[in-house]
Amino acid sequence: MIRFLLNDQLREIENIAPDLTILEYLRTIEVQRGTKEGCASGDCGACTVVVAEPSAVTGKLSYRSVNSCITFVGSLHGKQLITVEALKQGKELHIAQQAMVDCHGSQCGFCTPGFVMSLFALQKNAPDSVVQDFEPASQSQRHNIELALGGNLCRCTGYRPIIDAAATVLSTEETDQFDEQEANTWHQLMALRAQDSAAGSVTEVASNSGSPTERHFFSPQSISELTGLLAKYPQARLVAGGTDLALEYTQMLKPLDVLVYTGAVAEMKTVSLTDDALVIGGAVSLSEAIPYIQQVLPEFATMMERFAALQVRNQGTIAGNVANASPIGDTPPVLLALDALLHVHSPEGEAVIPVNGFFTGYRQTTLPAGGVITAIEIPLTKTDWHRRVYKVSKRLEDDISAVLAAIMFKVEDGLIVDARLGFGGVAAVPLRVESAEQALIGQPATLDGIKAAQAELANTLKPLSDVRATAEYRLQIAQNLLTRAVLEYVYPDQSLTLASEVSAHA
Ligand SMILES: Cc1cc2nc3c(=O)[nH]c(=O)nc-3n(C[C@H](O)[C@H](O)[C@H](O)COP(=O)(O)OP(=O)(O)OC[C@H]3O[C@@H](n4cnc5c(N)ncnc54)[C@H](O)[C@@H]3O)c2cc1C
Ligand code: FES
Ligand code: FES
Repeated sequence: MIRFLLNDQLREIENIAPDLTILEYLRTIEVQRGTKEGCASGDCGACTVVVAEPSAVTGKLSYRSVNSCITFVGSLHGKQLITVEALKQGKELHIAQQAMVDCHGSQCGFCTPGFVMSLFALQKNAPDSVVQDFEPASQSQRHNIELALGGNLCRCTGYRPIIDAAATVLSTEETDQFDEQEANTWHQLMALRAQDSAAGSVTEVASNSGSPTERHFFSPQSISELTGLLAKYPQARLVAGGTDLALEYTQMLKPLDVLVYTGAVAEMKTVSLTDDALVIGGAVSLSEAIPYIQQVLPEFATMMERFAALQVRNQGTIAGNVANASPIGDTPPVLLALDALLHVHSPEGEAVIPVNGFFTGYRQTTLPAGGVITAIEIPLTKTDWHRRVYKVSKRLEDDISAVLAAIMFKVEDGLIVDARLGFGGVAAVPLRVESAEQALIGQPATLDGIKAAQAELANTLKPLSDVRATAEYRLQIAQNLLTRAVLEYVYPDQSLTLASEVSAHA
């Protein structure tokens, strides 16, 4: 049984399809149609809802905007789903709604509920320091607003009035009904979760008992429960954020009969940061991971802000990105360059598998059958290296990379003594180009010193031409990014940051 709060109402649901999305549930079962469907693929934000749950880190509720079109209802177990219908109180609009009215942020209105929900989440997540007067908007405030709204598309109003509405929301310290009810909601959600612990067994949150094929959504709470389920149901698919997997259902119309959700597995929700390594649990969302990555690998964290958009980062995981094994996934090239390790549990036992060698062919990996990535370990051995991560895509927000380059080298006495080059978008798999790394070693860290490595890239990379970029363009970009990394080493005082953001567009 799935138990969750729909706004302030308890829902206890049995016998639903495991692949039912929140959007389908709201519009067809609850007949609440304020939440809109635009693309059904996570790209437009029209379906944005907010999910609140108790955070062990802050001791408060955390509020995350998510795309309801690619989030399964089963993942709501023990959480609060907040929809646009619940914002208005009587005749009084919520501050997020009133700001859109006051700033003229809506024309046809189709995108508006999604924007309102992103504004609501922005208000809930505003650090105290962000609450300030809008005129003039500070750089950091503008940056926060762009991060919050990057996953919402509007085709008619234009973004300036909507950004004004966001700034208005951030400049108020008004509380709302959700703040007033927070302690109560917290207790209700903790009570729902306590019922699971009392049951002491695997939580089956959904099953289609009338279906001719077995259909289940499981939400195990420990790795042993999870691996037990994978052994019992060999056809099961693991689901973390679902931001890749759900598209099989919404875009390819493939039923997903048995889903095993990783998001309630406590051991996979932890992050540990020591002097030696950053270890990110397999069910930790990208948004949760970024602040830790920022502390030790800021260049990686900066790129991660351009990974999809906030709604997807709030759901998606690094483990899902790695297991999905897309040649254009953003984290694998960086993990390759950082010599990262995957902690894996499978019927064969526990193993630690280097990311280097994990990708064996187009969307193929060495993950054993029934295996789960429980954590990603990033050794912090390259603190004194020159490290750069570049994402080249057509748009700054919410776009897939044409090329992703993770370029890292160590220089001693002017000579490169070690190097790692990880690339995405240039072959059938995320690629570490060891021949080009070798060509760098022993060379001066200058434009002349990288020429042999650039030639090696031309020999090794086998990019494809597609709608995002031609093969020639991708190869040229990969070589040019090496030039840029070296220029940024040679001229560290010349800030390329702003220019670099501009030039990171194809
Ligand atoms: C609008 C949109 C924009 C996107 N933009 C980007 C982008 O900019 N860059 C990018 O790289 N990707 C992007 N993606 C793809 C996707 O968001 C990422 O790949 C994400 O990291 C997937 O994580 P997830 O937790 O959602 O995986 P899921 O969809 O839950 O799972 C993906 C695959 O991994 C498997 N899996 C999940 N967890 C585990 C685990 N712990 N162990 C083993 N297998 C597991 C699943 O069975 C499935 O096969 C985008 C997707 C959308 C919808
Ligand atoms: S409908 Fe477009 S993101 Fe969900
Ligand atoms: S107001 Fe029409 S799409 Fe945004």
